[in-house]
Amino acid sequence: MCGIVAYIGQRQAYPVILKGLKRLEYRGYDSAGVAILNNGLRVYKKKGKVAELEDWLTGMDMHGHAGIGHTRWATHGEPNDRNAHPHTSGDQQLAIVHNGIIENYAQLKKELVKQGHQFNGETDTEVLIHFIEEIKKQNQCTTEEAVRIALKRVVGAYVIVILDAGHPDTLIAARKGSPLVIGIGKGEHFLASDASPIVEYTKEVVFVNDYEMAIIKADELILKNSSNEVQTPYIQKLDIELAAIEKGGFDHFMLKEIFEQPQTIFDSLRGRLDAGQGSVILGGLREYTGVFKEAQRIMIVACGTSWHAGLVAEYMIEDLTRIPVEVEYASEFRYRNPVVNEGDIIIAISQSGETADTLVAMESAKEKGAVIFGICNVVGSSISRTSHAGVFTHAGPEIGVASTKAFTAQLAVLCLMALKIGYEKDSIERKRYLQLLHELELVPEKVEEALKLNDRIKEIAEKYKDARDFLYLGRGYNFPVALEGALKLKEISYIHAEGYPAAEMKHGPIALVDESLPVVFIATRDAYYEKILSNIQEVKARKGKVIAVVTQGDKNIPPLADDIIEVPEADELIAPMINVIPLQLLAYHVGVLKGYDVDKPRNLAKSVTVE
Ligand code: F6R
Repeated sequence: MCGIVAYIGQRQAYPVILKGLKRLEYRGYDSAGVAILNNGLRVYKKKGKVAELEDWLTGMDMHGHAGIGHTRWATHGEPNDRNAHPHTSGDQQLAIVHNGIIENYAQLKKELVKQGHQFNGETDTEVLIHFIEEIKKQNQCTTEEAVRIALKRVVGAYVIVILDAGHPDTLIAARKGSPLVIGIGKGEHFLASDASPIVEYTKEVVFVNDYEMAIIKADELILKNSSNEVQTPYIQKLDIELAAIEKGGFDHFMLKEIFEQPQTIFDSLRGRLDAGQGSVILGGLREYTGVFKEAQRIMIVACGTSWHAGLVAEYMIEDLTRIPVEVEYASEFRYRNPVVNEGDIIIAISQSGETADTLVAMESAKEKGAVIFGICNVVGSSISRTSHAGVFTHAGPEIGVASTKAFTAQLAVLCLMALKIGYEKDSIERKRYLQLLHELELVPEKVEEALKLNDRIKEIAEKYKDARDFLYLGRGYNFPVALEGALKLKEISYIHAEGYPAAEMKHGPIALVDESLPVVFIATRDAYYEKILSNIQEVKARKGKVIAVVTQGDKNIPPLADDIIEVPEADELIAPMINVIPLQLLAYHVGVLKGYDVDKPRNLAKSVTVE
């Protein structure tokens, strides 16, 4: 979604904001803009990427020590210069950047039009700043007071930062439902939608809470709640390094993140798994082990790739703990009036920890008495803070819009959880428990080996890059892997791709198979191996092109397949973490060969903070 950066302090604000917008561009990138206080309010905004804004502003006088910036992912109004942020009040005294949606903006706009306000674009944000202006005028109050009154009438989610030409030494920010981080420097403050624009200046940050407002000067930060009571800011130390948010010699963040996986999986297991001792330590689970042991059922809510991790977890948890598991799209769960009983466990999985659909699903389950367990990558994120307990995945910042390393880290953590609960519950034999712990410890090594397939996969990508459609098929633990492979391809290469359980093919999708259709089988050795062999034959009989991911040394599938990808052998429960690697690489190479910006695929945003 949209990204916000703001600065106030001794430095020049524009370079800080521009660099920050580039770091946040992965969140949304259809337009960008800045407002700087420089002898009055100056606002510059443009359709397109941040680089286009930068080119346009090169050579202009951008001096000023306070400013706000924005990179947009359109919700209300098409991407164009007018709808880009910042938006200004009618008197040009206030400028605002906003992430989120003001749901009742149409009503507010109607009232404002009656009062004589004129609007340049179609956005909800422009309405909000006019609304604040109107309240200021009617109540003869300060901007801070007007913001507070306005937000009481606003329905929706937001982070806003406001620049006031009348008070050049102050920024006003507020949050409800969307993230805002404030970096604390020496005589300066940095504001952003996540920590990536801040980390190179300071490691001391405050995560603003919902319904809080911040009044920020160069050397002062005042936090207030919605009743105007001053709150003590809770200052935390960031544990990310600058290198983690830079490309480090790779052509794209996506490739860097794919190649980071041996390390990120290792990090997600570090200090938690000791196969030699047969121990799993998950701090977040400690006080909840009893709750899980007693649970009648577990519901997993998530979106996109995280939902795919949830599907793998369903297989793992049922297999190892015998607790029934349901996996739901968070957006469906929230709105279909699900049965949630006191004591039910909800596991919410999210890389960003800010996905609005997941957040509202868990909030509604919490109200019904469920225990909420969060699996998140971003420390301090809304989902991690809304959970009763949880486990961080420790994959480091994921910048590529398509999720890769977050997925495998989620699987590693979910596997640890399933093993821990299963063992405590006595529903898994010690021998199998120890074998799986040992296998889990070997995953980083096996992923490293799978990454050596990169050149081979590039050749396969070259061969099939012009296909119109792809089908991805797998069974058992490899079914969610097929879904994830298809999602990666469609996001990055804009080729239509579908994932299916392989057996389901004959109930419909087989009609698509002809000599032009590449079918990717994830067919490593597991309990379904013989069955999937038959499915491959069914595709071959209809002249489909078979690309098969198989276990190293497989003798049966190569004679049937057009292209073979051999991955290291692993237990079926562990295999998804390894089998997904070639599928990530395939999507990456097809996207690059087709000339697309794989780090910023069209229409997508990294953290989806609107429902
Ligand atoms: C796909 C992808 C998305 C996210 C989804 C949920 O590559 O990245 O499908 O997985 O938007 O995001 P999180 O995990 O941040 O809740």
